Amino acid sequence: MLTIDLQDKTALVIGGSRGIGAEITRTLCRAGASTLFTHTGNSKHQNQVSSLLKEIHDAGGTAEAEVLQACDSAATTRLIQKLTSKWSRIDLLVCNVGQNLAQPAENVTDEGWRKFIDINLSSAFYAVRAVLPLMMASKHGRIILIGSSVVYDGGGGAIDYAAGKAGLAGMMAYLTRNYARKGILTNIIHPCVIETDLLKERYGTPEKKQKLIEQVPAGRLGQPRDIAGLVAYLASSWGDFICGQAILVDGGRTIF
Ligand SMILES: NC(=O)c1ccc[n+]([C@@H]2O[C@H](COP(=O)([O-])OP(=O)(O)OC[C@H]3O[C@@H](n4cnc5c(N)ncnc54)[C@H](OP(=O)(O)O)[C@@H]3O)[C@@H](O)[C@H]2O)c1
Repeated sequence: MLTIDLQDKTALVIGGSRGIGAEITRTLCRAGASTLFTHTGNSKHQNQVSSLLKEIHDAGGTAEAEVLQACDSAATTRLIQKLTSKWSRIDLLVCNVGQNLAQPAENVTDEGWRKFIDINLSSAFYAVRAVLPLMMASKHGRIILIGSSVVYDGGGGAIDYAAGKAGLAGMMAYLTRNYARKGILTNIIHPCVIETDLLKERYGTPEKKQKLIEQVPAGRLGQPRDIAGLVAYLASSWGDFICGQAILVDGGRTIF
């Protein structure tokens, strides 16, 4: 039987408490990785954090959670320094934070623009910058950025979201060119129509959901596991020869 083996690996998931991020955390732990995930500490989602941790621990996995405002550069650096002394290695960084407020471009304020660029782009930069020295020292690392199909079709609902996610794609190319030879492999996964809170905000009614499904050649909406399995694959030795790639996970919708 083929397996994805992440025993003895350490993983940091920025934004791993619910939706796609939670499934990434769950899957990495199932594959054996010691995983720390961050969340914003929002009391609305506290139960999800607790039940995710319980589920993983009950199954014999190793996970912990930390509150992090991912747009706080200093806090991100502090967290990664703390992890460095604890683990001495970070094998995998997943930057999953994302937020999208659909509105016409002409309505976006300067403040709104900065806020969403910070959430969707700068948060990843802060984490990447802080893990690079550690990954370079061990001549090994995997970085997986979570983008969006908006980069291909402009269909995310907000110009700041589209620009932030496109920025991640540029970051992936830069990191590959400059750090792959140092043992750090970076890829970006672009999800599309994955059934999570973020999607429900835009396609909440059964009619809207049905219309959306009709746009997906695979005949269904995506599930968080469709992304999480790919993350685990890329993080494992199966992904040793894959870097600098943008992988669209969309059931064929973008071509449709
Ligand atoms: N679902 C889709 O179809 C789809 C499509 C394209 C791209 N994506 C991307 O996939 C990723 C996961 O999406 P999802 O659908 O799972 O979304 P979700 O259910 O809304 O989860 C978003 C995640 O981002 C975190 N987050 C949001 N704002 C944050 C902030 N200001 N600071 C720190 N963390 C923050 C959340 O943490 P808390 O739980 O603490 O709030 C949560 O872990 C996002 O980057 C999203 O843009 C999703």
